[in-house]
Amino acid sequence: MRISVIGCGYLGAVHAAAMVSLGHTVIGVDVDEARVQSLAHGLVPFYEPGLPELLTEGLATGRLSFSTVMDDVKRARLHFLAIGTPQTESGAADLGFLFTAVAQLVPLLSPGDLVVGKSTVPVGVAARIAEVVESAGARLAWNPEFLREGRAVVDTLSPDRMVYGVREGDNEAVALLDRVYEQILESGTPRMVTDFATAELVKVAANAFLATKISFINAMAEVAEASGANIDQLADALGQDPRIGRKFLNSGLGFGGGCLPKDIRGFVSRGEELGVDLGFLREVESINLRRRQRVIDLAVDELGGSVVGKRITILGLAFKPNSDDVRDSPALDVARRLVELGAVVHATDPQALETARRSTPGLDYHADVPDALRGAELVLVLTEWEAFTGLDPELAASLVMNRTVIDGRNCLDSVAWQRAGWRVLALGHAV
Ligand code: UGA
Repeated sequence: MRISVIGCGYLGAVHAAAMVSLGHTVIGVDVDEARVQSLAHGLVPFYEPGLPELLTEGLATGRLSFSTVMDDVKRARLHFLAIGTPQTESGAADLGFLFTAVAQLVPLLSPGDLVVGKSTVPVGVAARIAEVVESAGARLAWNPEFLREGRAVVDTLSPDRMVYGVREGDNEAVALLDRVYEQILESGTPRMVTDFATAELVKVAANAFLATKISFINAMAEVAEASGANIDQLADALGQDPRIGRKFLNSGLGFGGGCLPKDIRGFVSRGEELGVDLGFLREVESINLRRRQRVIDLAVDELGGSVVGKRITILGLAFKPNSDDVRDSPALDVARRLVELGAVVHATDPQALETARRSTPGLDYHADVPDALRGAELVLVLTEWEAFTGLDPELAASLVMNRTVIDGRNCLDSVAWQRAGWRVLALGHAV
């Protein structure tokens, strides 16, 4: 099929390359000239394992191209909307870019075309877009995306489920999507056909649930710290119950990134508009933020009541491993706040050095872990990259000035670190 993908950010770039690998002919369109140039030359402007290979293979087929000109989508019969919906000051989603793209797309549509929304939107937006799209004789489907950064290629090509939101009885839209995703569906991926509102809600509800699960275990971590219980064993025991499940019960510094924090704030705000009180999600967010404060309090205590002039080394800046994304990164937030308190913060990350440097001057960045550790009076592990969990504690001990580490992700082998002479302060454990 001839497909266009409108918006070539994280979601769109992955989706465009993935659709080519399924045998389709794809044009990706984006207003950002530099991004389009980069993708057209096979260069992914962010870190995502497996994507450079998928993009290069796609370009080599001759069936993948990128453009800044919206008119170029005219030959496609199916158009994916993968436009970002950033957060406004109030916490609500900014739909400006999405509606602008739709307004540009509509005059280019031919009767029978299918527009497929993939952006994360507040419930009710798809119905508004459907009206404009249908005025051009085309149809709309809402097909939310559940990919995780760091696993985006696998999640796109082997998703847990497919959700199609369509107008009641729009079998043609369903049939078109089935054709696009034929190979994925053949491998047994469950697919569910529903209305626009439910499809939109599946996405935000899933992210709200995941955020709640993380904050739940982090609240339990606070109880564990206060009572002497062991949070990791508690999570393992809870996770044995299949109704609860062990995934997303890793306690620590909490959630960040471009999705979970933004989506729960947007959901609360949309709830208010609909007259529904989703205030529990505010509590989910405050538990999440309390974990950052806990790390800062521990650091201040360990350094004798003040961090002024103290050399602190932070291992990990990305919001999670296998990503260079520092949007709403708990690790970078802690780093910034320690600098504000007067600490001299040295930091390293396997992939997020550049993104962190761009957003946050004022830290001493190191590409090399030993360089970052040298002379540290306190070490903080804030993103659980393998490079840090696999670090030799003896080697680390030989570089620092003071052997104290705060394990903000419960990811270190504390016994091995203690054997090497470290005092290990792990979140969720009594100190
Ligand atoms: C999240 C969802 O997991 C995806 O399903 C969704 O498609 C995506 O948002 C989106 O809306 O586009 P992502 O933001 O890439 O994906 O990252 P996650 O793997 O969900 O991690 C989010 C944050 O939670 C990270 O900061 C991570 O460190 C933290 N986390 C995760 C925990 O603190 N504990 C856990 O047990 C799991």
